[in-house]
Amino acid sequence: MANQGPSPGSILAQWRSYRQMHRALLVVFVICTIFVLDRYRVTLGGTFGVSGEPRVVEVLEVVDRTPEDLSIEKAANSTLGFHAIYYVNMKARFDREDAMALQAYLSGLEIQDYPAVEADQIDPVGMPPTHRPGVLKTGERGCWRAHANIWSEMVRKKLPPVLIMESDATWDINVRPIMGDLNKNFIKFLNHINSTAVHDPSYGSKNKLDNKHTPRTDINTPATSFNSSANATEPSIVYNPDDPWLSEHWDLFSLGQCFEHHQDNHIKLVYKDKHVPDRQINYFGRTLGQERVIRKSGGITCTTAYAISHTGAAKLLMRSALDLDNPVDLLIRRLTLSRDLVAYSVMPPVIAQWEYRNDVGMGERGAQSDINGGKHKDTPEDTKMPGWANVSESGSVWVTKAHHRDVAFDKMTLDVAWKEILGDAVLQKSWFNPETND
Ligand SMILES: *[C@@H]1O[C@H](CO)[C@@H](O)[C@H](O)[C@H]1NC(C)=O
Ligand SMILES: *[C@@H]1O[C@H](CO)[C@@H](O)[C@H](O)[C@H]1NC(C)=O
Ligand SMILES: *[C@@H]1O[C@H](CO)[C@@H](O)[C@H](O)[C@H]1NC(C)=O
Ligand SMILES: *[C@@H]1O[C@H](CO)[C@@H](O)[C@H](O)[C@H]1NC(C)=O
Ligand SMILES: *[C@@H]1O[C@H](CO)[C@@H](O)[C@H](O)[C@H]1NC(C)=O
Repeated sequence: MANQGPSPGSILAQWRSYRQMHRALLVVFVICTIFVLDRYRVTLGGTFGVSGEPRVVEVLEVVDRTPEDLSIEKAANSTLGFHAIYYVNMKARFDREDAMALQAYLSGLEIQDYPAVEADQIDPVGMPPTHRPGVLKTGERGCWRAHANIWSEMVRKKLPPVLIMESDATWDINVRPIMGDLNKNFIKFLNHINSTAVHDPSYGSKNKLDNKHTPRTDINTPATSFNSSANATEPSIVYNPDDPWLSEHWDLFSLGQCFEHHQDNHIKLVYKDKHVPDRQINYFGRTLGQERVIRKSGGITCTTAYAISHTGAAKLLMRSALDLDNPVDLLIRRLTLSRDLVAYSVMPPVIAQWEYRNDVGMGERGAQSDINGGKHKDTPEDTKMPGWANVSESGSVWVTKAHHRDVAFDKMTLDVAWKEILGDAVLQKSWFNPETND
């Protein structure tokens, strides 16, 4: 318009300066808005809640971020870089629900309930065949089915990877930065082992391997996603912020097993992590300091927390539909040991199990495990409970499971929760006072 106008130069100049001023005002306005929004976000932190990410600031910085930065950032988001975090809980365990809520709140995670399968929902007619009749308890069948329901949903919807947690999961309050560090090193590890995409049998998949080959052999040799003409000294596996854990490369990634098999323990990457206390953990002859190991899984015990891809979900659903001969963790373990499941794990685990201190009356109720199911009794009134003195001082009734020797948390969220929420308050001060009867 300015170019074709018949107006003299002065009008044009006036219009230009007017336009410039407009621009300047607009910039000032935008900056002020961002500033105000950001201040409000800080002030009203509680209102914006756990998922209140600093989105405005993010958009401005995105420009000079590398895919590596973005991947690490996504891996440290409120679902830890997964599509979702599901946790499986029995209806009666309100206590575990609360522990989960407090931990999620303090460490910034978004966790979705996934109903467990209760004993009264188990009918033999709806269970798969088994070559070992009578081996699985009802509790074990229900537990398997809760996981299988998630696998089934993943397969039906071909979902991106999800993280599955059991209800007694606990983690370090700094779990988000811990997962960011892990992400960077996990990609390094995949490069280091020349990982290739796993066989993906789903309809229309680009990673479908030739039917003439058994998937197992092909998985260990370069597959379609491997770019053999690329310079070998350059990473052939690249960061992908949309799928920061590169789920094409694995079936299962355990973040919270209680034991691991020795098979394939040499396929590993050890990295420094300042959030691991130096507990001198023994990793197959090597002493770990403030370090974590990412490894090819030999076969896990305990399904406390594991990520699963739709290929892994399909394999586990297939295997158990054919022969439900083991509890869920041993099914996973057997399929890893036979190297049919491409699985990785982390040690010390990022997520572990909690239980109650044994001396506050919860053992007497049968609250330490759900696998046996059935009715529970209340704590008898005459129970000896020496643990309360400690609870009053430490602010925690929770400990990590005693026999899992490889657990190493710097700040277990449940351990620091009282202090985070109530500061230096002493529990005993708010106890019932028999002297004032108040
Ligand atoms: C976290 O990142 C993953 C991967 O990019 C994404 O799928 C997921 O939706 C993100 N979570 C949230 C809460 O935005
Ligand atoms: C990965 O590939 C490179 C280049 O071909 C090779 O030198 C290296 O030994 C391979 N590493 C493993 C663990 O197979
Ligand atoms: C494979 O790597 C070469 C060399 O880095 C590159 O030119 C080519 O585009 C890559 N091919 C694919 C399919 O990524
Ligand atoms: C591979 O990369 C290295 C380092 O960037 C370079 O020196 C070398 O010439 C490359 N080799 C090939 C075959 O491209
Ligand atoms: C309370 O008990 C735990 C574990 O039983 C112990 O690690 C901790 O040091 C004790 N705390 C206090 C304040 O006594």
